[in-house]
Amino acid sequence: AEYDVIIVNGVVVTDTELGEYDVAIKGEKIIKVVPRGQLKDASATRTIDAEGGYVMPGGVDAHVHLQEPPLFGMGSTADTYETGSRSAVCGGTTTMVTFAPQKKSEDTLLDTLKATHEKAKDNCYIDYSFHLLVGNPSERALSEFKTLRDEGISSLKIYMTYEALQLNDSQILDVLLEARRNQITTMVHAENGQVIDWMTAQLEKRKLFAPKYHGTSHPPMAEIEATYRAISLSEFIDSPILIVHVSTPAAAKHIKEAQDRGIPIYAETCPQYLFLTKKDLDQPGFEGAKCVCSPPPRESEADCDVIWDGIANGTFTILSSDHCPFRFDDNVTGKKTCITDEYPQGHFKYIPNGIAGIETRLSLALGADRLDVKKFVEVTSANPAKLYGLWPKKGALIEGESDADINIWYPPGKMQDFALTNDLLHHDVDYTAFEGRTMKQWPRYTLLRGKVVWDKDGKGLLGEKGYGRFVKRGPSMLAGPRYAGEWEIPL
Ligand code: URP
Ligand code: ZN
Ligand code: ZN
Ligand code: ZN
Repeated sequence: AEYDVIIVNGVVVTDTELGEYDVAIKGEKIIKVVPRGQLKDASATRTIDAEGGYVMPGGVDAHVHLQEPPLFGMGSTADTYETGSRSAVCGGTTTMVTFAPQKKSEDTLLDTLKATHEKAKDNCYIDYSFHLLVGNPSERALSEFKTLRDEGISSLKIYMTYEALQLNDSQILDVLLEARRNQITTMVHAENGQVIDWMTAQLEKRKLFAPKYHGTSHPPMAEIEATYRAISLSEFIDSPILIVHVSTPAAAKHIKEAQDRGIPIYAETCPQYLFLTKKDLDQPGFEGAKCVCSPPPRESEADCDVIWDGIANGTFTILSSDHCPFRFDDNVTGKKTCITDEYPQGHFKYIPNGIAGIETRLSLALGADRLDVKKFVEVTSANPAKLYGLWPKKGALIEGESDADINIWYPPGKMQDFALTNDLLHHDVDYTAFEGRTMKQWPRYTLLRGKVVWDKDGKGLLGEKGYGRFVKRGPSMLAGPRYAGEWEIPL
C-alpha cells in the first residue's frame, strides 16, 4: 500500500490551525495533511475514520517525576519508568520529559544522567527525555553543562525550597549564567523555603499536624516572593527561565508584567491549580493527604479562574501534569509513610509532596471546555515541544517532519460521560486526587510514531514497553536572551 495509516474525516487541530483535513502516515512519520476527501483513492494498510472528532498532535508532558528517591517528604515516588509511561500513553501523552535528580551529596551531573538512562532504557511505552535536576551546582557540575547539551539535554530544574535541594541566590546566579552560555532553559521551583520552614515551626508549636496545614505552611506569599526573586535573578543574568507549577494569581501577575516588558520568562501551570482548592486538603481523617502537593491547592475557585485566564492570555506557556505520585498506603508496610512513632496521627510535614496526573492531564483540560482548542494544543503539546527543543518532531503535524504521534478524540455525542475512578487508571498508585470527577473527554485512539498504542473501545492499551525512545533535544525555540553575546556578566 501507498501509506501505512490514513486518518480520514477528522478535524485537525494544531497550535496554529483548525480544519477538515485527512492525514497520511508512512513508517513513523506524517507524510500528508490534505483537505478532507483528497485521500479517498489512496491505498493504506489501515484507515481510521475519525468521524468528525479532533485529530491533534500527541500530548507532550514536560513535568514528570518517575523512580525518584525521597526528596519531597518521606517515601520514594510510586511510578517507575514502566508504570508512569504506561499511564501516560493511556491518556494520550506520547512524549514525556522526566527529571534526572542530582543529590546535594553528589558532585557530578553526568553520573546522574547515566543512572537515569539506565532506569528508562527498554522500560518506556512513550518517547522521553530528561531535565537535569541540579541539587549541587559544584564547579564540576557547572563545567558539565556543555556535555549535557552534546547529550541532547537542554533544560535544568532548580529549587528555592526543600532541604534536600534548595539553592541559595548565589548558587542560582551560577546556574543561570552557565545555562545562558550553553543555551539551556532553567526551570525554577519558586517557593521561599525559609518561609515554609518558619510556618511549619509555628504550626508545630500549636500542635497543628493535620493534612490541611500543609496548605497553611505554604502561604501564597512564599510563592509570590520567590517568583519575583527568580524573575529578578533571571533578568539580571539575561538567562531565560520557566517558573514551574504556578498556583497563585499574584505570582502570575509578576510573570505577566515581566513578559510584557519583553523578558524571556516562561511559566507552567498544572491541572491541580485548575481543579483543586483548599477544600480538597481539608477532609476528614487523613483523606486530605491525597491532595498534598507544592505549591498547595489555593483558597477558592476564584483562584482557579485566574489560572484558567492565565492560560488563555498567554501568561502560561505550558500545562504539565507534575506527575509525582506517592502511595497512600505503602505496599510493603500497608501504612502511610508519614505516620511515625513520634507522630502516630501523622504530620503534614512528612506527607510526600505530589500527586498523580500524567493520564488525566489532557482529558481534564479538554473536557472542561474552557479553552480554545488551538490554545489547548499549544499549551499541552506544541509549546512544551518548542520550549524544550523537541519541535517539530513532536508537538506538530508537519508533513515529512513530524513523528506520527496523534490523538484522535471522540466526536460530540460518541462518548458517554463517566466518573473517574482510580481503577480506570494505569499507574501504580492507590488513589487519584481527581476521584469522582466527571470525564467528558478521553482519547479514542493514540498513535506513537505511526503505531496505534491506545484504542479505548478496542483492547485499550496496545503499546509496548520498550517501544518508547530517548529523544535528543536542541535548544529552546522560544525567545531567548535579549543581549546574548554583547556582554558576559553585568559589572
Ligand atoms: O508537590 C510537588 N510539586 N511535588 C513534586 C516535586 C516538585 O517540586 O515538582
Ligand atoms: Zn517543583
Ligand atoms: Zn513542603
Ligand atoms: Zn514536580
